[in-house]
Amino acid sequence: MARHLVTSALPYINGVKHLGNLVGSMLPADVVARYLRARGHEVLFICATDEHGTPAELAAAEAGLDVQVFCDQAHAVQADLNARYGLSFDFFGRTSDQHNHVLTQHFARQLAQAGLLEKRTIEMIYSPTDGRFLPDRYVTGTCPYCGYDKARGDQCDGCGRLLDPTMLINPRSTVSGATDLEVRASASLFLRQSQMVDTVANWVDQTTGLGDLPRSIARKWLDEGLEDRDITRDLKWGIPVPSDLPGIDPEGLANKVWYVWFDAPIGYIGATAQWADANGADYRDWWFGEAASDVTYTQIMGKDNVAFHTVSFPITQLGSGEPWKMVDRLKAFNWLTYYGGKFSTSQGVGVFMDQALEVASADAWRWYLISNAPESSDTSFTWDAFARAMNTELAGNLGNYVNRCLAFTAKKFAGEDGPVVPSEGTPGEIEYELGRDVAAKVDDIALHFDAMEMRKATRAIRELWSLGNQYLETREPWRMVKTDPDMAQMVLRTAIQLIPIFASVASPVIPNTATTLGNAVDVSVDAWPEQVADLIPSAGIVPAGQPFTVPPILFAKVDDQQIEEWSARFGGQR
Ligand code: MF3
Ligand code: ZN
Repeated sequence: MARHLVTSALPYINGVKHLGNLVGSMLPADVVARYLRARGHEVLFICATDEHGTPAELAAAEAGLDVQVFCDQAHAVQADLNARYGLSFDFFGRTSDQHNHVLTQHFARQLAQAGLLEKRTIEMIYSPTDGRFLPDRYVTGTCPYCGYDKARGDQCDGCGRLLDPTMLINPRSTVSGATDLEVRASASLFLRQSQMVDTVANWVDQTTGLGDLPRSIARKWLDEGLEDRDITRDLKWGIPVPSDLPGIDPEGLANKVWYVWFDAPIGYIGATAQWADANGADYRDWWFGEAASDVTYTQIMGKDNVAFHTVSFPITQLGSGEPWKMVDRLKAFNWLTYYGGKFSTSQGVGVFMDQALEVASADAWRWYLISNAPESSDTSFTWDAFARAMNTELAGNLGNYVNRCLAFTAKKFAGEDGPVVPSEGTPGEIEYELGRDVAAKVDDIALHFDAMEMRKATRAIRELWSLGNQYLETREPWRMVKTDPDMAQMVLRTAIQLIPIFASVASPVIPNTATTLGNAVDVSVDAWPEQVADLIPSAGIVPAGQPFTVPPILFAKVDDQQIEEWSARFGGQR
């Protein structure tokens, strides 16, 4: 038993998240957390809304709400949806929480103390029409790299490059559309990332669990030479830059807040502190020094977040000169596209978390998304692939098996007080072989979950389910029941043993279904199945004579007409 800290990238507060956001961080992080718990580890699973920066201010303005009120509401909406998808966060906090304010100021002071913050005067975009400086997304224009004409001041959605508002061609105010923009000088605090290149490069080299994609992204940033980064912004909403930073003259820094990407990752620690206060715990047991030295820290995120987690946040942590817990294992995802195009919150393209639950259950979505996770490349969402996951895999491979075993046994061998696991008959070599095959496949699944390989894990789970179906095809208990009823009892008893195993190994992905199956045969499916080879032929999992119930149909099949309907509703082609 070990201690595992797991975090999902913190979703922006603006708007309901789409399925691309869900599969890119929160959902796989939940699968990892649930798997580690099933293996008996102590897990702390933390997430929060990322509430600062221009996206929040702009979304609030659009909704006609005060930013604080907008964030309060949006946080509640996201928390509710997360719960409906079974995301098992130990805590879903907020970066605007006071704990994060305190920690962010702490890191800023440490960095200032270490000489890593420097005041500089820079050119920024000022809008006389709006009466303010326009940071980041407050400016829209044409990308100097790819020519995309809706590039935002912080990043281009066309090519993904990070930008500065002054780089945009034909810049205009995102709020007012004003084009009479001026460049004015203003003070800013720069994080001297260039001073930290060697330290971070060493850390990257030593951190074997970063994974190939994240490591190469980090190396690329480090090799290209890190530029010092402006970490203050002219916004009202955010964590204010304090006037008493060691060695920094506060002149010109009033009315500035920290850049959202400075305070957001600190939010992992802030949310842990928020959780700890509410639960009589100490966040430092998970994050700081000797107390946290036995913790394994896993981060899950989309690929656009990798540089911030392998370079920027490590600079904040290492630059503080304090022994903060650094990430040990990092898993990054590519994009889920909607029929090859971008899911987009701002443009309402794709399927959003609230709408998705109107057409299928949380487990159905969890299974489809995880088994099609964009791991080694981008993956296109299609309703046809969703139907295949539902019909062939969930309703077919799993649902049918459960139903065949339990409904048939109940029909043929129900006792006076309802169905019980049959007790006649002696297992043969086929049953022992089934036991060994199932045990080997369970180990296989564990290896893939250990490696956080979502597609491989779900493929192996499907193969495990198939072992059950093949067994029934081989033994044909529905024929046997006429010729050798004792033998049929033995086969059905053996087949029933597999149900809780199927459920346990799939429970990180389809937790509600797993619980339903466990309840049907009265076996806990919370723990990972161990040493099952001999337990299968000997009925050591669901004992002979134990009552069971036949669960209702687990997954309804999706028909062509529904696919047509959903494609029309959500704008996907077939
Ligand atoms: N909100 C960011 C996004 O959705 C992720 C922030 S992760 C954190 O891309 F570490 F900064 F919090
Ligand atoms: Zn571009």
